[in-house]
Amino acid sequence: MPTVDNPTEKTLAELGVNDAQGVAEKFAEVRTRFDRQVAFDADEIRSLMLHEAWLGSDSDPVTSLRNFWVGRKAGVLTLITENWLKKSPPSLKGVVGKQFNELKTHIETKLEEQRKRIEEKTEAAALNREQVDLSLPGVIRPIGSHHLIRQVFQEIEDIFFSIGFSIVEGPEIETPYYNFEDPVRDDMDTFYLELPPSSDKKAAPTPLLLRTHTSPMQIRTMEKQKPPVRVIVPGKVYRRDNPDATHSFIFHQVEGLAVDTDITFCDFTGTIDYFVKQFFGPSVKTRFRPSYFPFTEPSVEFDVSCIFCGGSGAAAGGGTCSKCKGAGWIELFGAGMVDPAVYGFVNYDAKKVSGFAFGMGIDRLAMLKYGIDDIQVFFQNDVRFLRQFP
Ligand code: PHE
Repeated sequence: MPTVDNPTEKTLAELGVNDAQGVAEKFAEVRTRFDRQVAFDADEIRSLMLHEAWLGSDSDPVTSLRNFWVGRKAGVLTLITENWLKKSPPSLKGVVGKQFNELKTHIETKLEEQRKRIEEKTEAAALNREQVDLSLPGVIRPIGSHHLIRQVFQEIEDIFFSIGFSIVEGPEIETPYYNFEDPVRDDMDTFYLELPPSSDKKAAPTPLLLRTHTSPMQIRTMEKQKPPVRVIVPGKVYRRDNPDATHSFIFHQVEGLAVDTDITFCDFTGTIDYFVKQFFGPSVKTRFRPSYFPFTEPSVEFDVSCIFCGGSGAAAGGGTCSKCKGAGWIELFGAGMVDPAVYGFVNYDAKKVSGFAFGMGIDRLAMLKYGIDDIQVFFQNDVRFLRQFP
């Protein structure tokens, strides 16, 4: 209902009108108000509605305005009929009737014009919005590229694939059993997962952890597959290391495992040497030193001759090479012949099979090959770094 003062809610007598001139004045007043409103566009009507708090029931402002004027129940024209025309003294009936008919025609014509005008404007706006300019240049979306670590994984996978290895991946959440409950490594180096107690009585009581290396896939692969086995395992590993230029709590490894009836230590060193030459170039040499891992026997560390000083240990401009600290060698792999005891856990016949395993840090390989001196750049994902390796 209109809340502003509306003269058509009163009778002419109540308004103090008692002659033809007064009637004409009242009709002119109403018409002026109408003319102002009918000139509005939809938004203006909406703010008028808010301002005058009328006819809130129609969500469409044009309909609201229409109802206010010509609504059957309480529109202005109905009110005039009821309050002015029907209740006018007989002497004024003729004048009121004539004025009413004129106003009615005026209001109806103008409302219709307004409706058309607003409709056309809305349509034009929609067309305008939907217009396609075929002459405009297309939107060029920047194309991403593989992260350098992913690219290095791919290089390594290609090399091993070409000599008969296949690629498998495994879970990053492991049990201590598969992680080889590594006694050389302090428990403090491992991230354990705290899980809510299981309601399942049969659920394994073992704590779960984030694998500290990709070696768990040695066991998982041999459990599933009979020899011969030739696999490499690329993936993420986790250790509680404080971040610095060479350490990160997350990094990447590629595990390798080959088991067959006739695999010798020579096959082992030959494979590693082949890989290193393929990856770094034919002039790079390898050497191995005794080491210890709980699942290989004998265990070794593989070094490569320093890629930067060519193994001389001397920097190009004099002094010692900063990369190998003058040693001429860079440590690259943990490796070894698979400990025969391991075969017992996976139902392989230790008397018939032999094999080797190795694990390498991908971040370190990438840093050496591409001359990167801070491992953190792999994880910061600064596009200025990423763009250098399209
Ligand atoms: N898993 C060992 C490490 O992360 C490396 C390794 C792999 C050693 C396979 C021997 C055999 O240090």
